[in-house]
Amino acid sequence: MTALSTIWPPFGLTLTTPRLELRPIRDEDIASAVEAAASGIHEPGRSPFSNPWTEVRPDELGANMARWYWQCRAGTSPESWMLLFGVWHEGQFLGCQDMEAKDFATLKTVSTGSWLRSSAQGLGFGKEMRAALILYAFDYLKADLARSEALDWNAPSLGVSRSLGYESNGTSRQAWSGTRRIVHQIQVTPETFKRPDWTLKVQGHEPLAHFLKF
Ligand SMILES: CC(C)(COP(=O)(O)OP(=O)(O)OC[C@H]1O[C@@H](n2cnc3c(N)ncnc32)[C@H](O)[C@@H]1OP(=O)(O)O)[C@@H](O)C(=O)NCCC(=O)NCCS
Repeated sequence: MTALSTIWPPFGLTLTTPRLELRPIRDEDIASAVEAAASGIHEPGRSPFSNPWTEVRPDELGANMARWYWQCRAGTSPESWMLLFGVWHEGQFLGCQDMEAKDFATLKTVSTGSWLRSSAQGLGFGKEMRAALILYAFDYLKADLARSEALDWNAPSLGVSRSLGYESNGTSRQAWSGTRRIVHQIQVTPETFKRPDWTLKVQGHEPLAHFLKF
């Protein structure tokens, strides 16, 4: 029988760093993602996300996450795509690192977002998984700009960005989680990127490049 990754090439991609494996989340990974999110990502009432997806009733979290994963897959095309990577360390699901782009062929720009279960925060994994995606974006997709944003108080997220060579592109006032927030826009280019001292291992790039017309 034809492998699902032949039909849907994102499922064939694997990025490997010294400690982590990143793969687009498949249906069989959703329960691990929900368990990791339910175990806690941030203090209650202090969502760092633009959309308060973690602050729903526990019995709604899983279905909402599944709906989001399916929605992102269903909306993925060369013109507009979102790759949602699960992040594993020694077989344990730690969190998610996503990367999206619109009109990539013209803009060569990607945007990223991420979260880790609380027990995996502060150990350098956030930096390692973001570095993996930026290496993939610059060296394989030939992107020339990667963007991110974070609330002004989100020191770990801004810390990952600073330590990888992101620079400020200003701030804006936005309604995040239904509240007025100051959001930092930050960006990195191949010139400012502080490359890690390890090499990213990539499997399954060619079919994905063909599928998304990179
Ligand atoms: C944001 C997040 C992914 C960062 O990952 P992490 O593994 O906790 O961060 P790391 O341990 O990789 O830290 C990376 C850098 O930030 C710095 N940093 C981490 N926490 C920090 C803090 N509280 N204050 C200042 N710097 C901090 C680290 O020192 C490190 O810099 P260095 O390499 O120069 O030493 C993770 O904390 C998380 O999931 N937070 C909750 C969800 C979230 O905020 N997502 C982002 C929404 S925009």
